[in-house]
Amino acid sequence: MSKPSVINIGFCGLGTVGQGVWKHLSASRAALEARLGARLELYRVAVRNPGKARGVDIPAAKLTTDALAVAIDPAVHIVCELIGGTALAREVTLAALARGKIVVSANKALLCESGAEIFAAARKGGGHFFFEASVAGGIPIIKALREGLIANRFPRIYGILNGTCNYLLTRMEREGVSYADVLADAKRLGYAEADETLDVQGWDTAHKAAILAYLAHGMWVKTDQMLVEGITRITQTDIVHAAQLGYGIKLLAVITRDFEANQLFVRVHPTLLPRRLVLANVDGVYNGIAVTGDVVGTTIYIGRGAGQDATASAVIGDIADAVTLLTSGKSVVVPDEAAAIHAGGRKGVKLAPLESICSRYYLRLEVRDQPGVLAQVATIMAQNRVSIESVIQRGSRLPDAAMLILTTHQSNEQAIRTTLAGLAQLASVLEEPLLLRIGDFEE
Ligand code: HSE
Repeated sequence: MSKPSVINIGFCGLGTVGQGVWKHLSASRAALEARLGARLELYRVAVRNPGKARGVDIPAAKLTTDALAVAIDPAVHIVCELIGGTALAREVTLAALARGKIVVSANKALLCESGAEIFAAARKGGGHFFFEASVAGGIPIIKALREGLIANRFPRIYGILNGTCNYLLTRMEREGVSYADVLADAKRLGYAEADETLDVQGWDTAHKAAILAYLAHGMWVKTDQMLVEGITRITQTDIVHAAQLGYGIKLLAVITRDFEANQLFVRVHPTLLPRRLVLANVDGVYNGIAVTGDVVGTTIYIGRGAGQDATASAVIGDIADAVTLLTSGKSVVVPDEAAAIHAGGRKGVKLAPLESICSRYYLRLEVRDQPGVLAQVATIMAQNRVSIESVIQRGSRLPDAAMLILTTHQSNEQAIRTTLAGLAQLASVLEEPLLLRIGDFEE
């Protein structure tokens, strides 16, 4: 392929992130061109509604409604897929890769759903797929895993990967409001997904966890193979009691690999993090990721995880890598499979069984306020060999009821699930208990 000196960038989608990329690329174009040694042309933009008012000024002649036409236009070198969703975005991505183009994407849902197909299409068509903006907004975590930490295998990666949930949990803690009360602000600030259930039910974090697990271990774990719980059942009560016990509540992705047993486990759930841990103090829209490598030890990354500017920063980082590849023929990006194999390999790796996940647990129960109820709860726990560490009893919002907050000593997921099933059978337990994990991580 001849090496172009003008790089034409085509945009498919110009929502919050796309407008941010346009704005910052326009503002810093001269500096970027000087660093990269090539001219950048914001060549074509596909949008659903060309008449819509936008925060950036785009010449009408550059606008089209045909995203596929931008993706296959022979003059376009780099396709920025910022449409979102998994239907048109997939079509556009595969069409561009089949023509040997470089696709830059922030689309974690698409990558999680069709990652194997996308990388196969890139190999077959001679294209490349760059996706730094898909995980943790402005934090260059993908570069860190693939490049800076290439000497390592990763027994554990855990992190706050959803800016919306962290913003909601932080405001719940500071202002005593419910998550529903601040969700509108998260949407207005451009943090939340178009369908915010992806954020609050944990799916967005699960998509990002799948991408990190693939990079670290070479295996695509489907979201239905993970344990995924969101933040919708967390109340002020939980936040207040967690704080009294010395914890902050964070929605975490936890990716653990036991290299001896060759087992991988990926889970997403709200977690009580001891305040001494750095990530327990990562607040607001910030994300934080603690990566433990067998050579380096633990490294921690913190930065804005959502929003126009942070995500645009990651997309432009990928565009810069794409320009370098186009102009020098050299990839600064380690090919995905090579990186994954280096990082520990997927050979023979299996998903770990539930009982291999050990934790301390936090349980909130609404029970009848009658003699013997505490003993019934304790009996079910004892039958499942779940040992109680602490008990707090408070008044309940329900009539003639009490709220119990229990923490346990180390147990495992299988035992705690059987315990929950047993508790659900008790007539004295009035609502589905809330179960949270306690994250006793080392840094
Ligand atoms: N909705 C996502 C978040 C956007 O809140 O983290 C960034 O991926």
